[in-house]
Amino acid sequence: MADSLLTLDDLAVHFMVGSTFSGGVKTLKAVDGVTLEVKAGECLGLVGESGCGKSTLALAIMGLLLPTRGLIHVDNQQISGSTPPDRMAMARTVQMVFQDPYASLNPRQTVRRTLADPLRLHGVGDKAEVEARVMDMMAKVGLRPEHADRYPHEFSGGQRQRIGIARALILKPKLVICDEPVSALDVSIRAQIINLLLELKDEMGLAYIMISHDLGVCEHVSDRVAVMYLGPIRAH
Ligand SMILES: Nc1ncnc2c1ncn2[C@@H]1O[C@H](COP(=O)(O)OP(=O)(O)OP(=O)(O)O)[C@@H](O)[C@H]1O
Ligand SMILES: [Mg+2]
Repeated sequence: MADSLLTLDDLAVHFMVGSTFSGGVKTLKAVDGVTLEVKAGECLGLVGESGCGKSTLALAIMGLLLPTRGLIHVDNQQISGSTPPDRMAMARTVQMVFQDPYASLNPRQTVRRTLADPLRLHGVGDKAEVEARVMDMMAKVGLRPEHADRYPHEFSGGQRQRIGIARALILKPKLVICDEPVSALDVSIRAQIINLLLELKDEMGLAYIMISHDLGVCEHVSDRVAVMYLGPIRAH
């Protein structure tokens, strides 16, 4: 497993739901016993019905939800367990593209600021280098230089998702979790965004976890597809 970028070993994320006033607290097993592996440069498709725990799994890999049980290793670093993961290091390794680009972008930040802030935070180069990286990333996702000073509401849905993708890739991560990256978009532009993701994967040597309801999309883009049922993954 030396060349594994991500390994999940019997991962479980359970939520306590309800209250003592409304009939007691129950355990909701959103993710229960998931074991899988993603290698560098590989695309793993993850499909499953609504509510089966796909987004919960993504958040656990990002280190944003604490697993109830099991192990997560990203780039040979254990991110589950009692010591919280090093967020700065994690951000350079794993990033996420969200379903709704509007909700996931800060409405008060221009595209330039959205892309430049992570670079500055991670101490990447001087002002000129930050600007060059921002412009380069914008070009890679198909945005024009004059878009740099615009705010999210001034873009179309497809362009907004391009900004979301640029933000995810600006720190050159190794793994990108795409959680339903096109399902909020008009059907006519879905293929464009999927193709852009595929081009960038090859160009930047990325690995993806491609989460989708749509088995067709998943099969088209992925090397392997894992099917998630309520709780465990049964086949992959
Ligand atoms: N913070 C939380 N607290 C309690 N329950 C939660 C929490 N987050 C998610 N859940 C529950 O966990 C289950 C899995 O949710 P999740 O969002 O992971 O599903 P999903 O597979 O991504 O669904 P969709 O395809 O609709 O996006 C759902 O039943 C949901 O209600
Ligand atoms: Mg989801």
